[in-house]
Amino acid sequence: MEKFDEYVRRYERKTPKSRRLFSRAARVFPGGISHNIRYFPPYPFFADGAKGKRLHDVDGNSYTDYWMGHWALILGHSPAPVASALARQVRNGTLYGTTNDVSVELAETIQKLMPAAEMMRFSSTGSEATMYAVRLARAKTGRRVIAKAIGGWHGFNTTLMQSASYPFEAEEGPGLVQDEGQYVESIPFNDLEGSIKVLDNIRDDLACIIIEPMIGTNGCIPPVDGYLQGLQEYARKNGALFILDEIVTGFRLSLHGAARLYGLDPDLFTLGKICGGGMPIGVVCGRKEIMSLADPVSVPDKQARCAIGGGTFSANPATMTAGLATLDFLKKNEREVYGKIDRLGGMARDGLGRIFAEAKIPCAITGTKSVFMTHFFSDSSQQKRQVSNATDVAMSDKAALGRYHMALMAAHGIFFLPSKMGAMSFAHDEGDVKKLLAATQSIADSGILGKAAQ
Ligand SMILES: Cc1ncc(COP(=O)(O)O)c(C=O)c1O
Repeated sequence: MEKFDEYVRRYERKTPKSRRLFSRAARVFPGGISHNIRYFPPYPFFADGAKGKRLHDVDGNSYTDYWMGHWALILGHSPAPVASALARQVRNGTLYGTTNDVSVELAETIQKLMPAAEMMRFSSTGSEATMYAVRLARAKTGRRVIAKAIGGWHGFNTTLMQSASYPFEAEEGPGLVQDEGQYVESIPFNDLEGSIKVLDNIRDDLACIIIEPMIGTNGCIPPVDGYLQGLQEYARKNGALFILDEIVTGFRLSLHGAARLYGLDPDLFTLGKICGGGMPIGVVCGRKEIMSLADPVSVPDKQARCAIGGGTFSANPATMTAGLATLDFLKKNEREVYGKIDRLGGMARDGLGRIFAEAKIPCAITGTKSVFMTHFFSDSSQQKRQVSNATDVAMSDKAALGRYHMALMAAHGIFFLPSKMGAMSFAHDEGDVKKLLAATQSIADSGILGKAAQ
């Protein structure tokens, strides 16, 4: 591991200000961070600017960014049309705290692109949107149980913090009362038969199935043919709602989301990330008859109304403006944007697969369209190279992935949030992918990955 230590020392040498900031941060934030996944050893670098595909840190380093703001920045950092619209809006108010015109424009734009959004409610995070979605499902069906995928990630809300991190069958930790999980059941992603077995046991009390069309946070795993369609059919047949969590996939896998791509027709779905244009957002959308349960005007009776919120910052004009500018750009340049980012994603997947195969480093490359991820396998782990659910990912050699990502940062100025998938943006180009592949080749040759590192 001497070689890897060299990479770490190189990272430490080029990030002294970040190291000092991290010790200050650790005194004010638990773990030194404001989102668990943002920590990585020895300490994360501290960013102080970003533009296009580049992320800059306080020590003057810059990185080609494949994390892209939790995959939200499909056009890159501060793209000109979004930045200028946002700057105009900031001068004209950031939070009216009232209804506003631009929120209607954004909602109508979303609706045109995704007609299943017959009505919607804006919030400031995806975690709120998914919480509201399952609450609406319970209100609509009068049932209690929510089914979600093992390793499915829907944010930090209490309801859906179940089977979210490995080991998936264990409690998610203190502060969550055990009983909170009794109305949430977890199904195996990409295994329709196994999922139906679980669902059959809870059928009569099943309010909804909520599912990411592609497992994102826990592994970048697209669905196998028929899986999502089978779940939707099961929900329909059994009086439950089918909810797609499109917070990552919406406007990413296609302008019309994963629903259009996979031929799905969810009762409710959630959006976030991209449609906020780099500003905080969550959206719960769906059938009018379900969304109307939350209507405080026509359902004034508290006993009959489903109480979903939105929050202080919901539909704030800054987010609405940035989101609208982003979707407008995507609409006008659909072919160019998706043609490019999908091609770059394919190039990265193929190139990485080839390099690791030639280097005989056991791994699987997953993803689709513009997202991609490498999963390494150590000799002691299962030798299965297929990754079809979050458990397969949990069994992979995460330490090797961490070493790979650290080496990219330390020696090549390339940033992936360690152990998370990468995403292309419209700001990336073929030259970036070539650099990523060349860097990967040199790291593979260094022997810090796979067998040679054991
Ligand atoms: C699929 C999915 N749903 C919900 C969320 C939660 O969104 P937020 O982090 O904005 O609360 C995330 C966040 O990554 C996500 O990936």
